[in-house]
Amino acid sequence: MSQTQTTFPRWIPLLGGLLGSTTCGLLLYAFSVVIKPLQTQFGWTVPEVAMAYALICLVFGLVTFPAGRLSDKVGPRNVVLIGGLVMAFGFFMVSTITPPDPAVVKAGGDALKAANRTPLYLLYLYYGIICGLGGGCVYLPPIATAPKWWPDRRALATGFTVVGLGLGSFIMAPLATGMINHFGSALPVFKYVGMAMGVMVVVAALCLKVPPAGYKPAGWNPPAAATGAGAPKATRDFTYEETKQSPQFWLLWAAYFCGSFAGLMCIGLIARHGIDAMSLAYKAKMGLDAAGVIPKDAAKTISMAAAGAPAALAITNAAVRILIGPLADKIGTKKIFITLFIIQAVAFLMLFPAGSTATMLALCAALIGWNYGAMFTLFPATLLGYYGPTAQGSNYGLLFTAWGVAGFCGPYFGGKIQAMTGSYLVPFALAAAVLAVAVIILATLKAPEKKPA
Ligand code: 2OP
Repeated sequence: MSQTQTTFPRWIPLLGGLLGSTTCGLLLYAFSVVIKPLQTQFGWTVPEVAMAYALICLVFGLVTFPAGRLSDKVGPRNVVLIGGLVMAFGFFMVSTITPPDPAVVKAGGDALKAANRTPLYLLYLYYGIICGLGGGCVYLPPIATAPKWWPDRRALATGFTVVGLGLGSFIMAPLATGMINHFGSALPVFKYVGMAMGVMVVVAALCLKVPPAGYKPAGWNPPAAATGAGAPKATRDFTYEETKQSPQFWLLWAAYFCGSFAGLMCIGLIARHGIDAMSLAYKAKMGLDAAGVIPKDAAKTISMAAAGAPAALAITNAAVRILIGPLADKIGTKKIFITLFIIQAVAFLMLFPAGSTATMLALCAALIGWNYGAMFTLFPATLLGYYGPTAQGSNYGLLFTAWGVAGFCGPYFGGKIQAMTGSYLVPFALAAAVLAVAVIILATLKAPEKKPA
């Protein structure tokens, strides 16, 4: 056996990535399910609870940078293990926050505000900050590690390490709903899921290790370089410092920010837009005026029809992360990127008129989920193609801060603009405009010149 091969099965780091990213999905993508029960139990307002989510997006997104640097230096296992235990601890600790007396919640006013100050800060601390810190450390290292084992299928391997974000939300939404119905409170969700997360991250961490230097899978050789006069010179991977100095890196950052901002600004509004638009269509059909009351049964049917849209979005958001990998490995990421971003801009423009028909709304949402989810495979894969795998942890950690900033301000702006204009059209059109900027950036992007060995 040559020095650059090993008996360690290379699917194991994929499993580690899958498990780790599933815990991040449990953490991030079903928070909407617990908002209402938390509000009822604590008497918090929607913006108060939403701030916890904005905080976790920011901290999670920003901490990926030191997590990636650390993973490049000390390896992924310890970063995921320690970060994962911190994340599980924070999630569990939310279950220990004591709600105010129900009579105080019912009475509302200043007494409720005073009683709720500490619980709210604790929610920000445990969920927003501690879970965010731990979550970023779980998310990033597998993305940097798995492709090193799969030089022949880098984008596919990347897809495996992010697909769990979609899977986690599939599991968590029905699981949390069932637990809330059973316990009559969202707090046990944090307790039991936090404990499960702890076990999952330990297994995920054990699955992760970097391959020996110069590793090649058995039977695979890098595409042969031409020889003779005029043949390409031998090249090496970029260092992190070199990556940071390359203008292409910052163009990618800007495009990632635009794609994430547009998505996160609107995704949370889709179901509410469907309910409003379908209610208006129902009233027009039944000859009711705008202030007319919709019968309870019809209102329930409308909510269920609108709920099909986030479900469709969740399915495509997960599936694309794996399915796009083989295509990206074959034709590269640039053409796919531009096509998907153009389709995404059109989908956002179609979203407003689609709102009044359940099928059209679900189709639009599915398209949006597909294009949004693809970014999480395509951006790391592009980075690998441009700068090589050696400093991928640091490089992608820095690039991913674009998502953190977008996650902090996107949903806030989306909600604010909708509330100010009283229409969903404005945030959706703004999202399309932001995506058009990303298309221009991506179209002008050229791979940086390789560094001589
Ligand atoms: C993702 O979905 C965390 O939003 C990031 O992969």
